[in-house]
Amino acid sequence: MSRKINIAIDGFSSCGKSTLAKAVAKELNYIYIDTGAMYRAMTLFALQQKLIKAESIDREKLGDLLDKVFITFKYNTDLKRTETYLNGTKVENEIRSMQVSKYVSLIAAEPQVRRKLVRLQQRMAESKGVVMDGRDIGTVVLPDAELKFFMTADPEVRAKRRYNELKEKGTETTFEEVRENIRHRDDLDSNRTHDPLRRADDAIALDNTDLTIDEQFIFVMNHAHKLVHATAK
Ligand code: DC
Repeated sequence: MSRKINIAIDGFSSCGKSTLAKAVAKELNYIYIDTGAMYRAMTLFALQQKLIKAESIDREKLGDLLDKVFITFKYNTDLKRTETYLNGTKVENEIRSMQVSKYVSLIAAEPQVRRKLVRLQQRMAESKGVVMDGRDIGTVVLPDAELKFFMTADPEVRAKRRYNELKEKGTETTFEEVRENIRHRDDLDSNRTHDPLRRADDAIALDNTDLTIDEQFIFVMNHAHKLVHATAK
């Protein structure tokens, strides 16, 4: 007999959370939810509306417009991936730009933004069977998730992985720019006042500096199988 659970995967930027979460969701036939994409879509919206100027946000205007922001996910059957939509427009590529990466931690530190997105994420996970990755999933969004992981990796290794990923996509950037962006986001995400990145007490640590994707997948699935196939009490 199997039961549906929720799996929370938190960790630093560019740790490979989404690669792992997607593979686990596919294996279990669960829904994968990329909460970082939601903060990125919100950032794109703020940029489009010119609400970010010189590292500061027009908070009042952002608050007024929040109810007009609709972020959804749709599965693309041709590309076999879930894509992010902002007010009905596909923004999957735009939200991965360096411009959005530069400002996303600023927007993610806004309590009004977090309130809205956390509520939305909690609704998405109500029926269980969800693998969600982010920064505050195990601590704030799904504190009752049956299985939680906290991923870390050496910052240099993360920067290299991210740089190669961007290069493959043809994004114009340098290794130093990517490394600095990751360092800056680590700092902002860990030290912000609202829902900072931290390991939940009951999260399993997963340092993947020297692990292959397959090794991480097996590690997570070993834990998941025990819970999914445990006899329901
Ligand atoms: O996972 P990512 O790099 O796409 O996330 C983008 C940013 O969004 C990241 O710098 C921090 C923020 N974020 C957050 O604050 N809370 C989450 N649950 C997910 C992401």
